[in-house]
Amino acid sequence: MTAAVIPAAGRGVRLGPGTPKALRALNGVPMLVHAVRAMARSRDVSLVVVVAPPDGAQEARTLLDDHARPDSTELVVVPGGGTRQESVRLGLAALPPEVTVVLVHDAARPLVPVETVETVAAAVRGGAPAVVPALPLADTVKQVEPRAGGGPEPVVATPDRAALRAVQTPQGFDRATLEKAHRTVALEGEGVTDDAGMVERLGLPVVVVPGHEEAFKVTRPLDLVLAEAVLDRRRATDGFA
Ligand code: C5P
Repeated sequence: MTAAVIPAAGRGVRLGPGTPKALRALNGVPMLVHAVRAMARSRDVSLVVVVAPPDGAQEARTLLDDHARPDSTELVVVPGGGTRQESVRLGLAALPPEVTVVLVHDAARPLVPVETVETVAAAVRGGAPAVVPALPLADTVKQVEPRAGGGPEPVVATPDRAALRAVQTPQGFDRATLEKAHRTVALEGEGVTDDAGMVERLGLPVVVVPGHEEAFKVTRPLDLVLAEAVLDRRRATDGFA
């Protein structure tokens, strides 16, 4: 059985002040609802665990109950923690024993297409312990010596762009592998920004499959404009959003 865990406990400070990011609306529907629908749209996913802000589990539950979703998908809401890693760990703890494949998906990526979800899940079922969707980079990337305060930062290196990928979610895992990563890396998990990174620290292989431009992360105000434009285009072309 495949389950999706959606960490949605972040405050989203880069979007500006206000409600937690996952509860903000895109075309009138909260981002979290879009993200849950994106997972539930895949027939592979029979359970979605939403990890809500620590003090907002009831609000998230009410909000999800107020919006329609496919009947075939079970939905559980649990309170999250102070870091993304902690929130994912709390989501994993809510999975029933029959779950063998876990997709971890950021609530902040509400528009991921179902094809991407299924490509990731299929690769895990095909035997990969950890799978991430990713895209080549449009920008050249510089490694710098970070300077606080906005002063010019010295460039240290320019990695070969052809060998770099920008990773998205859902990231897919064999459940035992992800649980082991969270058990082992949890304490020294400083600087880990995604789940696959924890599996890498265990020395286990992580593979990349093609991501999708619509799986972008809603982080800054301009991303809200882009996300609503994508929804408008979907509504115009296939009547759903
Ligand atoms: O902060 P960042 O954009 O990396 O957050 C990615 C995802 O992790 C978001 O969906 C956010 O809600 C979630 N998160 C969480 N618990 C935290 C911090 C972030 O569930 N304490």
